[in-house]
Formats: sequence, structure tokens, C-alpha cells
Amino acid sequence: MEALFGALAALPGLKVLSLVSLGLRGPLPQSIGNLTSLEMLNLSSNQLNGTIPVELLGLRNLQTVVLDHNEFIGEIPFWIGSLSELTVLSLKNNSLNESLPTSLSRLESLRILQLSMNNINGEVPDLRNLTNLQVLDLGNNSLGPTFPTLHNKMVTLVLRRNKFRFGITDNMSSFYQLQKLDVSYNEFVEPFMPSLLSLPSIGYVNIAGNKFHGMLLQNMTCGADLNFVDLSFNYLTGDLPACLKSRNKSRNVHYRGNCLSNGRQRQHPYAFCHNEALAVEISPHKGKEKGSKVVVAMSIVGATSLAGLMVLGVGLVFSKQSCKKPQTRVILEKATMMYPSKLLLDAREICQMAKLGPLGLPAYRNFLLDEIKEATENFDASNLIREGSSGPVYKGILANDNLVAIQCLKVRKRRGTQAYTHDIELLSKLRHINLVSALGHCFEYNTEDSTVSRIYLVFELVTNGNLRDFIFGQKPTWAKRITVAVEVAKGIQFLQTGMTPGLYSNNIKTTNVLLDHSLHVKLNSFNLPLLAENMDKVNMLPSSGSKENGKAIVKQDEKSDVYDFGVILLEIIAGREITSDNDISVVKDLFEVGIKADKIARKQILDPAVHKECPDNSVKTLMELCIRSLSNDPNDRPSIEDVLWNLHFAAQIQESGQVDGSSDRSLSPVFTSQ
Ligand SMILES: *[C@@H]1O[C@H](CO)[C@@H](O)[C@H](O)[C@H]1NC(C)=O
Ligand SMILES: *[C@@H]1O[C@H](CO)[C@@H](O)[C@H](O)[C@H]1NC(C)=O
Ligand SMILES: *[C@@H]1O[C@H](CO)[C@@H](O)[C@H](O)[C@H]1NC(C)=O
Ligand SMILES: *[C@@H]1O[C@H](CO)[C@@H](O)[C@H](O)[C@H]1NC(C)=O
Ligand SMILES: *[C@@H]1O[C@H](CO)[C@@H](O)[C@H](O)[C@H]1NC(C)=O
Ligand SMILES: *[C@@H]1O[C@H](CO)[C@@H](O)[C@H](O)[C@H]1NC(C)=O
Ligand SMILES: *[C@@H]1O[C@H](CO)[C@@H](O)[C@H](O)[C@H]1NC(C)=O
Ligand SMILES: *[C@@H]1O[C@H](CO)[C@@H](O)[C@H](O)[C@H]1NC(C)=O
Ligand SMILES: *[C@@H]1O[C@H](CO)[C@@H](O)[C@H](O)[C@H]1NC(C)=O
Ligand SMILES: *[C@@H]1O[C@H](CO)[C@@H](O)[C@H](O)[C@H]1NC(C)=O
Repeated sequence: MEALFGALAALPGLKVLSLVSLGLRGPLPQSIGNLTSLEMLNLSSNQLNGTIPVELLGLRNLQTVVLDHNEFIGEIPFWIGSLSELTVLSLKNNSLNESLPTSLSRLESLRILQLSMNNINGEVPDLRNLTNLQVLDLGNNSLGPTFPTLHNKMVTLVLRRNKFRFGITDNMSSFYQLQKLDVSYNEFVEPFMPSLLSLPSIGYVNIAGNKFHGMLLQNMTCGADLNFVDLSFNYLTGDLPACLKSRNKSRNVHYRGNCLSNGRQRQHPYAFCHNEALAVEISPHKGKEKGSKVVVAMSIVGATSLAGLMVLGVGLVFSKQSCKKPQTRVILEKATMMYPSKLLLDAREICQMAKLGPLGLPAYRNFLLDEIKEATENFDASNLIREGSSGPVYKGILANDNLVAIQCLKVRKRRGTQAYTHDIELLSKLRHINLVSALGHCFEYNTEDSTVSRIYLVFELVTNGNLRDFIFGQKPTWAKRITVAVEVAKGIQFLQTGMTPGLYSNNIKTTNVLLDHSLHVKLNSFNLPLLAENMDKVNMLPSSGSKENGKAIVKQDEKSDVYDFGVILLEIIAGREITSDNDISVVKDLFEVGIKADKIARKQILDPAVHKECPDNSVKTLMELCIRSLSNDPNDRPSIEDVLWNLHFAAQIQESGQVDGSSDRSLSPVFTSQ
């Protein structure tokens, strides 16, 4: 440990240190205090022991501290409240004891506090000022008896297996973003508040193993996303609400060990609950504990244990500009009030150098509605780019002068943000050099029930025209045409294989393939479920606004993108606009003839602009590829990987003959094993 941290101390710019599951043992050495630039520290799943060293106090830039699954002892130090940048503090599964320091209530940037599985006791300090806090996990400690004081924008609240007794009913009904509430196996002696079941975002409620009492009614309502309820082993009486009774498998309901009259799961007689409730209603005593302390823990999904030495991000030095604090902070504070998205759990989003790198794009993020309005001058008509099938698309200018395209999607179903988790995850992965990449999104809410009314999708704005204009306007060289085809294919390959689930049937055509200023291809048509679901029914035309609405063949698998690619290739090679099925079959027939004809005749089929420069082998290869891609039977069409191979082959022949510098870049690294 000494040697390792001594060596690391020689890297003054170190920002991210992740040493997970390496069998590191013993106390953390003092020299950790030399890593003054550190922003993220993850030392999970080692055997580190001793107290949390005071040297951490010197690391003023720390934003994320994860020390889960170690053997740290002693109390959570009071000075932790001075690490004012902290957004994630996770100390799960250690042997920390004593009570929580009141200084926690100063950590106003904190979003995630996870202290479960320790021996912490006493009251939880007042956390009401932590308005960014979304995840609080204090499970498996001895905290209590008063329910913590929190602001009402919590998303996940886990107090399982502690000694909480009262205070829950006063505050919870205003927690409109709460998705998960677990207060099971405490000592609550209060009336149960049925309104918990109908909070707008709620998905998980567990109150099992307490002394909650009170009467439930048949006609009580449940939130639309509620899929897990455990009321077991309390003193509830009355009828099980109808919304919990349905046999719907998507809602998992447990209520054993109460006194409900119409349930199927095992119940006590009414008198049992009645008597017990009377017994506990003796007014709860005031908490006698002196200070108040909180245990914080954060459960990280899928904690993979990684073997081997892993020093992530060592030596990665962020540019000061790209990570400027004030900007990030403002956005985060406001954003977290509104967006409980899982994405916010990723602490690294704050400064995601990895993503900034290769694409030169900022990290995917949540936008504020105000930002969207400002960027589009409040959706001024002069900024309208087009009326797409799923809603209008506006041009926008962000505060940092970046140009963006903002698609406004009016959603059809009233649902909470949680229902969009998968859509947003998928959207955030739409990033590739050959795609119009997604930069972020923004939810707008119905004021009365906080369901989502609109979603704004923010994409990079690509302004150098589309592929059709390029081919007919600029008459590119043969080599450039192959480059363009390769980039289209790479875009398709990414859509199909670069994420799970892949996107297929993307309806790609020369009018929605765009070019950027360095003439690289950017596909701008994605078959996102979110867009399909909210498609304007009277206007099912593709969003590019193109008139062609051709292909008679119904193509629903990955090969439909290959077909689209074939059509694009036709246009690229022949230099003719293809706007109907008829055009496709005419040019395809020409190609079929061309393949069998001689060299001279073959050339006549090509765009006259390239007659002089193209090697015949290359032409023939592309024509064959084109015809195969347009096979009526999808099974006869090549896979997108085959397409790339053939293009590569055609390009090599081309390179050996003609030289065109602009094609080099994208030709060499085409092949991946995917
Ligand atoms: C770490 O800091 C201490 C004093 O702050 C200094 O004496 C020591 O040389 C530093 N270690 C390294 C490796 O820079
Ligand atoms: C910490 O771990 C080291 C190495 O495993 C051990 O020698 C030492 O006794 C431990 N200290 C405490 C306080 O448990
Ligand atoms: C707690 O951490 C220890 C290692 O310190 C690990 O073996 C154990 O599985 C962890 N327990 C849980 C519940 O994660
Ligand atoms: C907390 O843990 C430390 C170190 O293990 C121990 O010395 C101390 O007595 C414990 N405090 C309490 C109240 O158990
Ligand atoms: C919360 O903030 C208010 C205003 O800044 C302050 O007066 C109050 O003391 C703070 N509460 C706690 C518990 O820190
Ligand atoms: C508490 O500990 C038990 C095992 O002792 C574990 O199954 C459970 O997940 C833990 N709960 C929390 C909230 O950490
Ligand atoms: C929660 O309830 C307590 C007592 O009723 C009150 O003092 C506190 O301000 C409430 N907190 C919120 C966030 O409403
Ligand atoms: C639910 O039913 C009770 C009586 O069973 C009635 O008093 C109450 O008004 C009903 N509430 C609603 C919202 O229908
Ligand atoms: C089950 O509930 C879900 C939402 O909770 C709903 O979408 C689905 O239609 C329901 N299924 C049945 C068979 O009622
Ligand atoms: C810390 O490391 C664990 C194991 O690799 C990982 O699951 C977790 O996401 C990391 N935490 C953060 C905040 O990056």
C-alpha cells in the first residue's frame, strides 16, 4: 500500500483512481493526501482497515468516494462535511460505528449517500438542505427512532433494518419523485399512509415487519408504475385495495400476517391487529439520543469483481475548461430537482473525459427546460427546421455556442419519468462518428400529476447538406464515393451492433444521411421505440420530409437496413436520383446487365462524373454488392459486416490505382470483429 500510493503521489494530475477487488489490505496510507487533484476514488471490495484517514480532507476536489465492502472501523469523521464537492459517498458494508456527524447536512452537492451494512446508531441529522440528494441507503444499521428529515425530491429511500419508530407519515405525501421506499423491519408504530401507494413515480413500497396499523379501503388507488408492494407483518385492517388484488403478474404484492378481510394470503383475525394497535398507540417517546448521525450507503449495480491490477484513468488529465465547476454545478442542482433518471447515478457523468475524447462531444446529459427554451428562442418559428412525423425539430444554440437540433416529442401516454428509463438509456448510447449523435434530453411535466407531457431530444446539428445534394451537387470522386458508402455502412453497423438492443429498420436514405463540415457521413434516422410510439398517426411519412415512400417489400429485420444501403449505393454509383420502386428496379436491371457486359459498356452505367477514374474491378465489386443488397429475399442479402468487407475490397483496388487522400482515414480501420 505504501509503495503503491507513494508511486501514485508522483502523478499530481491524477483525477480518477479506481482500485477495486485487488486484495489490498491494511490501513490507507497517509500519502493518499498527496493526490490533491483526485475527483473520484473507488476502493471497493478490498480488505482496507483502520479508520478513514484524515488525509482525505486535503483532497478538496473529491466528488465521488466509494469505499464499499472493506473493513474500515471507527466513526464517520466530522470533517467529511468539509468535502463540499462530494456528490457520491458510499461506505457500504464496513464496520463503521457511532453516530452520523451532523456535518453531513452541509454536503449540499450530495446526490447519493449509501451507508448500509455498518453499525451506525443514533438519529439521522437533518438532511433537508441536501436538495440534490436522490439516493439515501441506510439499511442494516441501528439508526432511529425518528424518520429522517429530507427534502421531497428523493428518488430512492432505503431505511430497511434499523430502529426507526415514527415520523414517516408527516412528510411522505409530497415526495413526488420517489420511486423506491423500503422501511421494512423497523419499529414503526404509526398509522399507514395509503397515499404512499399512489405517489406519482412510485414503483416499490416495502413496509414489512413493522407495527403499522390503520384501515385500508377497497377503493384506494395505486400509482401506475407500482410493481412491488410488501405490507406483510403489520397490523393493517380493512379490505385489501382492489388495485393490489388483481392477478396481474407485473405487480408483485405481499400482505401476509395482517388482518385484512378479503385477501388470499394468510391473515390474523381482526381482534389481533386491533389489540396490538391499541397497545402501540401509547404515544411514542421522544428520541433520547444526543447527537444525530446518519449512515450512508450506495449499492452499486452489478458490482463486478475485477481481477488483476486495474488503475483506471491514471494520468488522465482533464482540461480545466471542459470540467469548469460553476457551470456543472448549476445544471446539476436544477437538473436533479427534475430528473430522477438512472443516468444521474453515474457519478462520472460530471466529467466524462472518455466520451469527450474520440467524438469531441460533451457527455450526454439532462437539459433544463429553460435551457431548451433559451436555445430555441422559446421555439421561435424562425428556428423550425422541419415538422417531423413525431413532432417539430428546432435549431438551437446552447449557452456555450454549440449548435443543436432539438426534437420535440409530445408523448401520448401519461407516465412518470421512470417509464422512460430504457428509452433514455438507449438514446444516450446513440453516439458514433457516423451518426448524428444524441447530446441529451429534457422532460416537461404535466403540472397536476408530474407525469411527462413532452420529451425534448437534443442532437448535434449537422449543417452541410445531405448525401443526395452532395452527390449531385459536388460530383465526388470515385474514391470519395466509396468512402461515403463505407461510412454509411459503419453507421448502420453501429446502430445494429453497437448497443443492445440494436436498432433495425432505420429507414435510411440519401436524404437523411447528412454530411458534416469535414464531409463525414452522419446518419440521421433512427428507429427508436420512443419515436415510433409517439408517431403522429396522420403523418407517418419519414421525418426527413422526403417524398419517396417507396419500398413495397416489407422488411423488418436487420436486412432491411442492408436493403436501404443498397438503394443508397445505387444512387452513389449511378449518380441518379432514386425516388421510387420503379427507379430501383430499372437501375438494378442495368447493373445486372452491366456486370455481364464488358468494361467499356459497364462504365456507361456509372455517373459520367467518374468515368475517367474508376478501376473496373472496383466498379464490378460494388455493382455486385448493390444487387445482392437489393435481393428480394432478405436471406440473400449480405450482412452489414459482409457489406463492409466488400467495400473494403473495392477500396483497396481503388487505392492501388487511383489515389485520393480524403479516403484514407476511414478506409484503414474499417474492420472490427463484430
Ligand atoms: C507527499 O506530501 C508530503 C508533505 O505534504 C511530502 O513530504 C512528500 O514528499 C510527498 N510525497 C510525494 C511522493 O510527493
Ligand atoms: C489491518 O490489516 C492488516 C493486514 O491485514 C493487519 O495486520 C492489521 O492487524 C489490521 N488492523 C486492524 C486494526 O484490524
Ligand atoms: C461485505 O464485504 C465483504 C468483504 O469485506 C464481502 O465478502 C461480503 O460479501 C460483503 N457483503 C455483502 C452483503 O455484500
Ligand atoms: C467503535 O469502534 C471502535 C473501533 O473498533 C471502538 O474502539 C469503539 O469502542 C466503538 N464504539 C462503540 C460505541 O462501540
Ligand atoms: C439549512 O439552510 C438554512 C438556510 O441556509 C439554514 O438556516 C439552516 O440552518 C440549514 N439547516 C441545517 C440543518 O443545516
Ligand atoms: C442487510 O443484510 C442482509 C444480510 O444480513 C442482506 O441480505 C440485505 O440485503 C441487507 N440490506 C441492506 C439494505 O443492506
Ligand atoms: C417534515 O415534517 C416535519 C414535522 O412535521 C417538519 O418539521 C418538516 O419541515 C417536514 N419536512 C418537509 C420536507 O416537509
Ligand atoms: C371509498 O369508499 C369509502 C367507503 O367505502 C367512501 O367513504 C369514500 O368516499 C370512497 N372514496 C372514493 C375516492 O371513492
Ligand atoms: C398489468 O399491469 C400493467 C401496468 O401495471 C398493465 O400495463 C398491464 O396491461 C396489466 N395487465 C393485465 C393483464 O391487466
Ligand atoms: C466502483 O467500483 C465498482 C466495482 O468496479 C463499480 O461497480 C462501481 O460502479 C464503482 N463506483 C463508481 C462510483 O464508479
